[in-house]
Amino acid sequence: MFLEIKDLCVDLGQFKLENINLSIEKGEYLILIGPTGSGKSVLLETIIGFYKENSGEILLNGEKINNILPENRHIGIVYQDHVLFPNMNVYENIIYGLKRNKELSEQEMDEKVKEIAKILEIDHILTRDVTTLSGGESQRTALARSLIVEPDLVLMDEPFSALDVSTQNKLISIIKKIGKEKNTTFLHVTHNFNDIWNLADKVGVMKNGSLHQIGSVFNVFSKPANDFVADFVGIQNVFEGKIKKNNQNHLVNVNINDNITLVSSDVEVCSHLEDYTNVLVTIRPENIIFSNESMNSSAKNILKGTVIDVTYSGPIMGITVDVDGIVFKGLLTRSSFQSLDIQVDKDIYIIIKSLNVHIMDRYSSFKLEKS
Ligand SMILES: Nc1ncnc2c1ncn2[C@@H]1O[C@H](COP(=O)(O)OP(=O)(O)OP(=O)(O)O)[C@@H](O)[C@H]1O
Ligand SMILES: [Mg+2]
Repeated sequence: MFLEIKDLCVDLGQFKLENINLSIEKGEYLILIGPTGSGKSVLLETIIGFYKENSGEILLNGEKINNILPENRHIGIVYQDHVLFPNMNVYENIIYGLKRNKELSEQEMDEKVKEIAKILEIDHILTRDVTTLSGGESQRTALARSLIVEPDLVLMDEPFSALDVSTQNKLISIIKKIGKEKNTTFLHVTHNFNDIWNLADKVGVMKNGSLHQIGSVFNVFSKPANDFVADFVGIQNVFEGKIKKNNQNHLVNVNINDNITLVSSDVEVCSHLEDYTNVLVTIRPENIIFSNESMNSSAKNILKGTVIDVTYSGPIMGITVDVDGIVFKGLLTRSSFQSLDIQVDKDIYIIIKSLNVHIMDRYSSFKLEKS
């Protein structure tokens, strides 16, 4: 095992992380999900060494790192709003981490900066003052600064949530590519289930300071360990988007990406939110209707996609559809599945009533307070 956490307990007074056990193999991608306040960030910050555990062990590559200083753990961390050094330009920010490595010559360091900047597509802004960067450019710079030192493990705490969805998708494909090329191990916290479908090998579900389940994506979603996990993962379709109210027809538009806008009837949830606020949208899989034909209806969302996966679970079929890079998961009985003649790679329409598109204010999301 590459990262191994054994019986980790952290006591922060009012909040405790309790008996966390998890392991990740080299090159694996673990995504942690869970309601707000469940301890995901505290766990990441304990792994990197900002919090001291009360008991338990953290092993990286077989070596116990509990007593190693954070800067010597070879772990990179990327936050939602990464703080870049404002008095340095993009190039200087990226090279910063390398300067501590005495073995590299100036020229080698320069080559490394250019290589990572090229991968992250920021090679044209290396001389820019970081205060002039867009959100996406700053996040790419922060990623470059973390990745240039080729850390053994990269921790990411909601790295994409401040970004628009097309930038998120771009970064997802970049991270996938880097992960493959460098065999980097990732531990990534998110509220957006699309990240799970796109990136994760494994998924862990946290609540109240405990890790309720960890396993392959398939296992956690098809065999939830308890009611809480079942409830939490049962939603399956969780996306981030930006709202735009439409007062005329009492609907709210949520922009998921450049080509997908969902209409929702959750007007009340949005009453205190301004247009273009980031929210989470949830759709239960049983509320997705499949059709081979398009329909016209203003209270319904009709999206054309391609079937990318079909799973069987007794009499119920799970259908995964890619709509312009966004993955939707729905359910069908076997007989409907057959009469619709659903096949992988075939185009299909998915229809979702606006009543079934639920909006959650991003920062009070996932307060599923069932135990
Ligand atoms: N330094 C600290 N001292 C005491 N309590 C803390 C400290 N840091 C965090 N907490 C508490 O620990 C709990 C877990 O916080 P954490 O930030 O890990 O949640 P999270 O799962 O990352 O939530 P979110 O999804 O909202 O980011 C919260 O109740 C928080 O208030
Ligand atoms: Mg957090």
